[in-house]
Amino acid sequence: MLELGTFLVSFFAILICVAIESRHTPANVDKGYFWHVSDFHYDDTYGKEGQSCGFPVLEPGPFGDAACDAPLRLIEDSIKTMAAIKPDVDFILWTGDNAAHIPTPKFSMERNLYMIQTTTSAIKRMFPHTLVVPSFGNHDFYPADNTNGTEEGFYKVVCQNMWSTWIQDPKQIQTCKSGGFYSRLVGHKLRVLAVNTVLYLIENPKTKNLTNPSQQFEWLEATLMAARNAGEKVIVSAHVPPTIPSPSLFYWFYEQYQGPYVQLMTKFADVIVAHHYAHEHSDTFKILQNEDETGASAVFLAPSVTPLRGHKSSTELLPNHNPGVRLVEYDKRTGKHLGYTQFYTNITGANSHGKTHWKELYSFQDAYDVSDMSVSSLRKIFHKMAQPFSAPMMQYCSFYSVTDTPEEECTLEEQAVFWCAGQLTNLNMTKECVKRYMHL
Ligand SMILES: *[C@@H]1O[C@H](CO)[C@@H](O)[C@H](O)[C@H]1NC(C)=O
Ligand SMILES: *[C@@H]1O[C@H](CO)[C@@H](O)[C@H](O)[C@H]1NC(C)=O
Ligand SMILES: *[C@@H]1O[C@H](CO)[C@@H](O)[C@H](O)[C@H]1NC(C)=O
Ligand SMILES: *[C@@H]1O[C@H](CO)[C@@H](O)[C@H](O)[C@H]1NC(C)=O
Ligand SMILES: [Zn+2]
Ligand SMILES: [Zn+2]
Repeated sequence: MLELGTFLVSFFAILICVAIESRHTPANVDKGYFWHVSDFHYDDTYGKEGQSCGFPVLEPGPFGDAACDAPLRLIEDSIKTMAAIKPDVDFILWTGDNAAHIPTPKFSMERNLYMIQTTTSAIKRMFPHTLVVPSFGNHDFYPADNTNGTEEGFYKVVCQNMWSTWIQDPKQIQTCKSGGFYSRLVGHKLRVLAVNTVLYLIENPKTKNLTNPSQQFEWLEATLMAARNAGEKVIVSAHVPPTIPSPSLFYWFYEQYQGPYVQLMTKFADVIVAHHYAHEHSDTFKILQNEDETGASAVFLAPSVTPLRGHKSSTELLPNHNPGVRLVEYDKRTGKHLGYTQFYTNITGANSHGKTHWKELYSFQDAYDVSDMSVSSLRKIFHKMAQPFSAPMMQYCSFYSVTDTPEEECTLEEQAVFWCAGQLTNLNMTKECVKRYMHL
């Protein structure tokens, strides 16, 4: 039974690989690949007490439920699928949130570390020779969201005992231990900055009154400057994004961090090839830029592995969504991002068939008819999305929740928010933009 499952995964993986390889590759490009996976949210009580389950589950399926965080079976299945589809990637971006949404009174530091250890081991087991670049999510801390970057015991255990074989450079292991951030060379003149944006998260009570926790801003500036001087390109990888979430409008960051972070990143837009974040458990892309549209960078948010459906408000649920993993294609010589393929498994189908069937949801470059993931390609897409109910807008809406069915319920207001928050980083201007879009 198990072996047949593995065979099927491999079989479909081969079909998918053929599809990927046969796509047109421009000349003078040395194509490389990396995975982006995020938000496992491992619930070790799934199917028993189900401590993460936000609402009652009548019959918890073997692979998970939209009411709860992920069982180990789903986590292992998603990593196994990545290894079957494309085992020989150059590296893996892994943007955090390993612990389940379990209320603090029921939770502990020991269990939190056990969950990070479980997901770390699963990745090491299925990608034993692959470089992995992990960063911290707000659900990697105990209590959740709580860190000022100086919890030595915690950072030491994770950065040194769990992740040092990947980080390698003792100097970088040291910055990881003293602030939860580090940089890692992932190719010739291509560097990933694993940034600890949980330090800026508005739900983090420990950094509310601070202005520069762990001096991460100085480190970012110095590291980006050194990269520029060395002729390197940089990928920014972190959990909490600096962009305005859709379909709600607010800042994830405290205001004292929001402005400086965007300023700093736009100043180094010439060095940064792309930003990859997560945290929202949904699929979006945005342009990070100032009001004057100078220093723009492309931002991509990857969906989660956990199927847990969040709350939009106290009474309203966010859309149902499926687990997803993302394979990015890039040019190894320039770091330039060429496109990505979003894979997903239908959680309802997986539960009823007793096995997952991962497939391609879409290819970024094919779905949006662009040649790469650059800012100018994003501008072209947003230009088309300026028309409500346009085909690219309806796709964005549908892919948002990692589904293969059209999103019938994509309201004009949601479209307005997708369009405005996709291009603006100032909240007031975004709100004004939404009003204008809706009166088109
Ligand atoms: C960070 O938190 C620790 C533990 O709660 C505390 O001892 C330390 O003073 C805090 N540091 C700053 C800079 O707030
Ligand atoms: C932040 O400042 C407020 C108001 O001065 C205070 O009540 C609160 O305890 C402070 N929080 C921390 C974590 O220092
Ligand atoms: C998933 O599977 C269920 C049951 O097989 C089906 O009703 C649904 O349309 C499928 N698609 C998505 C996107 O969930
Ligand atoms: C945004 O608007 C709010 C209230 O509408 C105002 O208090 C705030 O100063 C404005 N912020 C900026 C940066 O314009
Ligand atoms: Zn999460
Ligand atoms: Zn998160």
